[in-house]
Amino acid sequence: MSVFAGKNIVVGVTGSIAAFKVATWVSDLAKEEALVHVVMSRAAEKFIAPLTFGALSANPVHTEMFSADQHHSMAHIDLGSEADIVLIAPASANTIAKLAGGFADNLLTTTVLATNAPVLVYPAMNSKMFSNRATQRNIRKLKEMGFTVVDPASGMMACKETGQGRLPEWPVAKEHIAKALSKQDLKGQRFLVTAGPTRESIDPARYLSNRSSGKMGYALARCAWRRGAHVTLVSGPTSLSVPTGVEYVQVHSALEMYDAVLSHAEVSQVVIKAAAVADYRPETQSRQKVKKDKIELILALTQNPDILFELGKIKKKGQLLVGFAAESENLQEEGRKKLTKKNLDLIAINDISKSNSGFETDTNRVLLLDAGGENQLPLTSKDATANLIVDKIVSLFANNCCT
Ligand SMILES: Cc1cc2nc3c(=O)[nH]c(=O)nc-3n(C[C@H](O)[C@H](O)[C@H](O)COP(=O)(O)O)c2cc1C
Repeated sequence: MSVFAGKNIVVGVTGSIAAFKVATWVSDLAKEEALVHVVMSRAAEKFIAPLTFGALSANPVHTEMFSADQHHSMAHIDLGSEADIVLIAPASANTIAKLAGGFADNLLTTTVLATNAPVLVYPAMNSKMFSNRATQRNIRKLKEMGFTVVDPASGMMACKETGQGRLPEWPVAKEHIAKALSKQDLKGQRFLVTAGPTRESIDPARYLSNRSSGKMGYALARCAWRRGAHVTLVSGPTSLSVPTGVEYVQVHSALEMYDAVLSHAEVSQVVIKAAAVADYRPETQSRQKVKKDKIELILALTQNPDILFELGKIKKKGQLLVGFAAESENLQEEGRKKLTKKNLDLIAINDISKSNSGFETDTNRVLLLDAGGENQLPLTSKDATANLIVDKIVSLFANNCCT
């Protein structure tokens, strides 16, 4: 089940040219089975009709504080007190100033004053308005008051100026909502996650690689960030978007991954090695493309370092090391051998003999092994699998597995 399903989400729309973009947000949240209630300022109604939000949310849109509707006579309090989360998107400079000052002069500002739910503010305005000292002071004030203010994106604005002030794209905005709705049981922890394949160069045109898509590692990075961790993601080449909020380190070869991982491992409480690092690389790499008729038919290989093994050797007290293995047979036996040999706290075994598990798929069926036993996770999405693996990590910490 998605993190949005069944959640009561109030969306406050204000008078910005970006108001129309939030129609997509409301539509997607409703598809995720959230209960979406839209509140609009007077100015917002100049930019987009309430009818649009009403149709997309399948709920009445609230525009008036002093409504004649008997059922909503306390709407100024009810909407905020029943909300799981309140979004102000787009947030105009004017509404940001009013929220910073604690004003309650329309239904939207009153709703914010009357809520205990997390409030996410998405400023959207001309870049000069955004960088203006008054706006920046008001944003600082909102942050001090415990609001989450999501930085606007940079680029060309509706006014044809270029700078910071654009409403973030929905996938980014959505991740911040997902985080606000998730338990924050990893707050203060540093996670290092690796993902994707490595590419071992033969010449500038050719390489050796494997079928890893990076989806499992990216899902783990996303999940750990949503649950409050600081996440560094070291990734080989993939076609995936960089997850919101993570520190991203792009690498290509196993040797580059080795350097990146070892330089980030020491400060991390949890290291998850979900990358499929090539075991071997060509003994020599040509600087020029090798002509077809000059290619050696037998490629000489040399072994790459085993990064997980090296991490196991230098593992510190209190650090938790999680490995992944792709196996097609004898899953338990192979997993136990690696758990011991590489000094791991937890190993997740992908059964790559099944078409709906392991490489390239959106689903996974993982067997978890640790010193205390085993858990067969169900066949489920990689996002849900990531959550279950992170649950296991939290329980291992709670049982002082690695002290
Ligand atoms: C065409 C046009 C576009 C506007 N776009 C923005 C904007 O993107 N961001 C903003 O803060 N104000 C923008 N404004 C100004 C606001 O609409 C104005 O400050 C209004 O009072 C905001 O009221 P509200 O905060 O109650 O919605 C725009 C005004 C016009 C006429």
